[in-house]
Amino acid sequence: MKIVMVGSGYVGLVSGACFADFGHEVVCVDKLESKVSALKRGEIPIFEPGLSEIVRSNAAAGRLSFTTDLAGPVAGADAVFIAVGTPSRRGDGFADLSYVYAATREIAGAIRGYTVIVTKSTVPVGTGDEVERIIRELRPDADFAVVSNPEFLREGAAIEDFKRPDRIVVGTDDERARAVMADIYRPLYLNNAPILNTGRRTAELTKYAANAFLATKITFINEIADLCEQVGANVQDVARGMGLDNRIGGKFLHAGPGYGGSCFPKDTLALIKTAQDHGTPSRIVETVAAVNEQRKRAMGRKVVAACGGSVRGKTIAVLGLTFKPNTDDMRDAPSIAVVTALMDGGATIRAYDPEGMEQAKAVLPAGVTYCRDAYECVAGADAAVIVTEWNIFRALDLDRVKAAMVAPVLVDLRNVYRAEQVRAKGFTYADVGRGLDAASSTEAENAA
Ligand code: UDX
Repeated sequence: MKIVMVGSGYVGLVSGACFADFGHEVVCVDKLESKVSALKRGEIPIFEPGLSEIVRSNAAAGRLSFTTDLAGPVAGADAVFIAVGTPSRRGDGFADLSYVYAATREIAGAIRGYTVIVTKSTVPVGTGDEVERIIRELRPDADFAVVSNPEFLREGAAIEDFKRPDRIVVGTDDERARAVMADIYRPLYLNNAPILNTGRRTAELTKYAANAFLATKITFINEIADLCEQVGANVQDVARGMGLDNRIGGKFLHAGPGYGGSCFPKDTLALIKTAQDHGTPSRIVETVAAVNEQRKRAMGRKVVAACGGSVRGKTIAVLGLTFKPNTDDMRDAPSIAVVTALMDGGATIRAYDPEGMEQAKAVLPAGVTYCRDAYECVAGADAAVIVTEWNIFRALDLDRVKAAMVAPVLVDLRNVYRAEQVRAKGFTYADVGRGLDAASSTEAENAA
């Protein structure tokens, strides 16, 4: 199969490289000259485990190439994937589809022979109809079908998720397009990955519904964690007790500082807008998004409480900045709200992240001191806060940490340590939903 991937960002690059790895001939197109020339040199613009290896090996084998020219490759393609960004539109929160439609117009001008156009980007229900309308209007002669094929990749595990997906959703009523998609994914369904053939609108909505449900699950357990703190229960045990029920399932029940990243915040918002637009508002998803926003800032108040009610004039070490480990992505990371809240409260911030420092500098408030490692970060600090559960923060030398700090206060927003273990070393320790007693929680509220 000859495949063109329009947009060589996160989704486009991972999908393009994996399709090439299946044996297809893939051309990744991007508007950004600098990105394309870097990719040609084998430099990967994002941090994603395993990605650079499969990019390099497939490029070397001649199956994967990069270009800024869209028209040439599209003319000879069996399938053209649209994998450009769909950020939240400033002001109203609808998904911004201008990149999708711009790509569509360019593709329309270039297709020759029967071509399957696939929306891989997360797009609101009905976008495929509009893509089809645009192409038909510009090219009444063209022979094509528009398919929705959403991705369900997790950052940090994207290659694994692509090669061993739980399911592949293919939304189209066009039989020929289904056959092309089946050929493209053949290596996967030999692995028994179920292919779900649906209508196009159904596929589009499935992606949003899945993300909104996962966001709901996280937010639910986060609220239960708050209650646990008040009543002296342990949220990890509650989650385990819930998750062992097959109808619930144990995944996505880790309490923490609230979800971040490029998908959940943006996609819940877009779903909220679509639902409102159609006169069927989703009050559940609206509440999930609002609770999650408030939670990120509330984590700042948790740190203030652990510091005895004020952080004014104090130095706080923030360990982990990216929205989750194994990525350099800072988009909507809880650390942004935590750092901002602490600086608003008069704290000085020292920060360290294994991969996201450059990205963090672009989005965190000015005045943060960036450190070279965890120990340099905690030096002279009045409290340390684990915001992202990178593995290296799971195995800190706590004696060394304590010796470097002015006051041994550890706030563990990801529950990576056991309270007894840390308290035995002489730390004041606060976590999420594991028995912060009622008195200190009241203190947290007052400090707010
Ligand atoms: C997510 C979806 O998992 C993926 O299917 C979709 O296509 C894109 O969005 P990603 O954003 O890469 O992927 O990260 P994910 O691992 O899902 O985590 C999202 C956020 O939720 C992170 O901030 C994470 O820390 C948080 N989270 C996740 C929790 O707080 N608790 C959990 O139990 C799980």
